[in-house]
Amino acid sequence: MVTRALDVVLLGPPGAGKGTQAKRVAATFNLLHISTGDLLREEVGKGTELGGLAASYMQKGELVPDDLVAKMLVTRLHSQQSLAGCVFDGYPRTRVQADLLDGLLAELGRRVDVAVYLDVPDDEVVARLGGRRSCPSCGAVYHVLTQPPARDMWCDVCGSALVVREDDREEVIRQRLSVYRAHTEPLLELYEARGVLKRVPGQGAPEEVFARLADAVRGGSQR
Ligand code: AP5
Repeated sequence: MVTRALDVVLLGPPGAGKGTQAKRVAATFNLLHISTGDLLREEVGKGTELGGLAASYMQKGELVPDDLVAKMLVTRLHSQQSLAGCVFDGYPRTRVQADLLDGLLAELGRRVDVAVYLDVPDDEVVARLGGRRSCPSCGAVYHVLTQPPARDMWCDVCGSALVVREDDREEVIRQRLSVYRAHTEPLLELYEARGVLKRVPGQGAPEEVFARLADAVRGGSQR
């Protein structure tokens, strides 16, 4: 039983399974799931000014500028202060973002308790993202081979038509991987130096990966 706020960062390349696992972590540990990718896609879907700016970066597999993502994150974090903590999925992705997150959590008397790195090789990432189907209405995520919906191209949860994300084309996936290596992978060293990094093999069935991840999170909550 978690008695103080628990803040978990999920790190890993595109397609590592961060979103799939973050939902489970949030439900199991009663945490708020904050996915900056989902928040950005919501802004794009609503046609806001921020969404318009973000879309041009996302379509190319580039990072959205730190200040745009920061505004969205602050709003989300401050709207949900009473919860037991957060699982951050896709944030931070740069050193600037990591520093900002530390500052925001410190204002709330919290810190990053555990940073989990989901380790998945590049060829598996490309296979996973090539077969991903996403629900634009409720955010549910499927895979045509490993987690197919009951009815081809229709969401099991809300019945909406599933889509292939625009950034799941192979050339954009390669670019996202290269951006990940350049900007986000160095954060592993940062969290390792603080003693909060847990490396979790991301291959195997989602349930198996979750069992490893949950152990890592429990370890982090006891620090
Ligand atoms: P975002 O949506 O965060 O994309 P990402 O980090 O590239 O991660 P993905 O959502 O592609 O993959 P995932 O790791 O969540 O895997 P999933 O669980 O879906 O960001 C998109 C864009 O927004 C970025 O490129 C950037 O432009 C912008 N952005 C977002 N955050 C930003 C930030 N902080 N700063 C700046 N820009 C930002 O799984 C993938 C597939 O694999 C699914 O089909 C799933 O069913 C399947 N799968 C999952 N687990 C398994 C398993 N164990 N075995 C087999 N298949 C599995």
